[in-house]
Amino acid sequence: MEIKSIRLGGLLLPSNVLMAPLAGYTCYPFRMLAYELGAGLCFTEMVSANGLKYEDRATRRLLFTTREEPIRAVQLLGGHPAVMGQMAGSELLKDFAVIDLNMGCPVPNVFKSGEGSALMLDQKRASAIIQNCKKSGKIVTVKCRTGVREDEMFAAEFARMCEASGADMITIHGRSRSMMYDGTPYYREIAQAKAAVGIPVIANGGIFSIEDAKKMMERTGADGVMLARYGLEHPFIFQELTGKPCQKTAFQILTEQLDLTKQYYDETYTLIYIKKLAAYMMKKRRGTKHYKERLYKSGSIQELQEMLRLIFLEHPKETEQ
Ligand SMILES: Cc1cc2nc3c(=O)[nH]c(=O)nc-3n(C[C@H](O)[C@H](O)[C@H](O)COP(=O)(O)O)c2cc1C
Repeated sequence: MEIKSIRLGGLLLPSNVLMAPLAGYTCYPFRMLAYELGAGLCFTEMVSANGLKYEDRATRRLLFTTREEPIRAVQLLGGHPAVMGQMAGSELLKDFAVIDLNMGCPVPNVFKSGEGSALMLDQKRASAIIQNCKKSGKIVTVKCRTGVREDEMFAAEFARMCEASGADMITIHGRSRSMMYDGTPYYREIAQAKAAVGIPVIANGGIFSIEDAKKMMERTGADGVMLARYGLEHPFIFQELTGKPCQKTAFQILTEQLDLTKQYYDETYTLIYIKKLAAYMMKKRRGTKHYKERLYKSGSIQELQEMLRLIFLEHPKETEQ
């Protein structure tokens, strides 16, 4: 695929290969890794605007970043225009240059609360949220789906509303809410949205190889792609697509992730996150079941380090793709 930079207001994204927001994964260490390997933009996982407003500590922790992070982008989840606007302009988000609005989350509790993908059914409210968040003066992007039901898609109409409300970019996950995370993405719906607006359109969904990324770009004419699960499974995809040089092995990457995580997060979080990431990086590799079981049993950072060494350094053959 053609790699190019994307301009968003005063920001220049170094590449058009983006890393998706992923709850439980796209913490500061993972974002730093994705940037290092060539990602043009990475987001925090979704952060509830209500959680921030009511000073929930776990929610606030999701905002952790440092000045080292090349571009700081937070994803906000919420359905109340006033609260969203208030949080977008609050001191809590002062470190973030980009605010992405979650209008695609399909999870039942989120949907029932009128948040995430439910906003696709209430364009007036979605528009008010975008307009209120724009008052912060920050770059505001939207992540949505092609629709709520598979038999009724309206990505182009929704994209037009986003642009008219002031959004600087839109990412479209090429599946309806009813499809959750499975099924071939609807390329045509993304293509129609791209044709309908002048702001950059990023295509997401079902990209699990270089060929999938190429196909997504060709079929949709989008300005770039957003990787999600495959970015966890094979972070090297960022350098494979962008050509950014990096000689690191999976073992080095995981060791560095472990070091960075324990530097800034507590032991419980570090153990959970590194185990999940390592398990993703072993996915689709044969003969790793017993390693995964042992990985999950690691009860301390030291044990985890030893398991990473055993799996990714001493027995890389079993864990090769
Ligand atoms: C574990 C998991 C967590 C996710 N968390 C978020 C999130 O916080 N915000 C969001 O907009 N999308 C979230 N998503 C959706 C992804 O960003 C992406 O749109 C979706 O996985 C489709 O891309 P893929 O087929 O390449 O994985 C999540 C998906 C998964 C599997």
